[in-house]
Amino acid sequence: MSEQTPALAGLPAGVVSLADHEVLARSRLDANAWAYFSGGAADELSLQANVVAWQQQLLQPRVLRDLSGAHTQVALLGRTLAHPIFLAPVAYQRMAHPDGEVATACAASAQQAGLVLSTQASIRLETVAQAVVRDPERGPLWFQLYLTPDRAFNRELVQRAERAGYEALVVTVDAPVNGARDRERRAGFHLPPGVSAVNLAGLPPAPASTQVPGQSALCGGLLQVATSWADIEWLLSQTKLPVLLKGVMHPDDARQAVQLGVAGLVVSNHGGRTLDTAPTTAAVLPRIRQVLGADVPLLVDGGIRRGTDVLKAVALGANAVLIGRPYIYGLANAGALGVAHVLRLLRDELEIVMALCGCVRLEPGCDCLFVPEGAAPAVWVRK
Ligand code: FNR
Ligand code: LAC
Repeated sequence: MSEQTPALAGLPAGVVSLADHEVLARSRLDANAWAYFSGGAADELSLQANVVAWQQQLLQPRVLRDLSGAHTQVALLGRTLAHPIFLAPVAYQRMAHPDGEVATACAASAQQAGLVLSTQASIRLETVAQAVVRDPERGPLWFQLYLTPDRAFNRELVQRAERAGYEALVVTVDAPVNGARDRERRAGFHLPPGVSAVNLAGLPPAPASTQVPGQSALCGGLLQVATSWADIEWLLSQTKLPVLLKGVMHPDDARQAVQLGVAGLVVSNHGGRTLDTAPTTAAVLPRIRQVLGADVPLLVDGGIRRGTDVLKAVALGANAVLIGRPYIYGLANAGALGVAHVLRLLRDELEIVMALCGCVRLEPGCDCLFVPEGAAPAVWVRK
């Protein structure tokens, strides 16, 4: 019935899904960059399981409902967003395309998507913000923070983000250390010349006093200075921006975060790049929503590849979702246009599945999932 989608500038004909972007990107990225962007920790079980977990949730078709006034808007941290899709923080994007994070930001802005810029971006946070901050139509502009052991440096980084116009800080708490990235090690992964974490330039080296003699560099060094709850409390005292924690996977951690005054959470297992065999985010999301209640902003990422996945995430309790690898593939394939294309595909799919499920509003806990007879719904239901 439908014709083949014509080629878009820079994209060959027939790229009609996020999976198509992945296949194309694999042929365009070199082995080094492919290992970094596509890989995960160890056997990559959590990486794969994230994707499968969304696929295994079934949606419940509904017919003949009144669909007038349907829209994809969501309310989040005092703003109304055109749709609930964010671009997750991903480091070193100039390894995917020379325009890197600026291209990503322009695409996010054009598609009214939220953007979370990584601390380890390969372009200065000010340059990225400048490209989009004055666009009245853009989605939220947030900065992802890896707290370093140096508080003066952290304070300066936070102030730079504030001055540049970032509207929230997303502290990533699930990666005190990188996972065991076998795929990267097999490929001999290295940052190519000219790509680096420019926003961390000037970070003083960790003091030698953090090294415990006779201990490994990890247990005797890095972990002595890893981010802790006390650092989150400190950060909250340093900024007026809302602070979200990314990488929360246990209800008790979620509770503690909110008690401290955190503005929201991102349920994430870092796209399967840190702890392999961590549970999937689809499995954990409804439990976290359960302990938080309806009002705390809650986002989720990991394995979101279809509009169906976005609707399922909302049904399981999320206010919004983030995508990581899929937009990096779009970036590798066609720069800003490729990222915008990925976002557009996902938005269009979301609207189609909302219509087919008879869902006119994206309210966390909305009633869109198929629940087999006799099964207890693994779902948080809005009361
Ligand atoms: C990431 N992620 C990540 N997270 C973060 O907080 N700071 C970072 O700098 C990075 N860098 C990064 C690099 C690469 C190559 C990937 C794939 C991921 C994790 C990211 O924000 C997100 O949690 C996952 O990518 C979501 O999973 P999917 O959508 O890639 O399956
Ligand atoms: C990663 C780090 C940068 O996942 O978060 O590669």
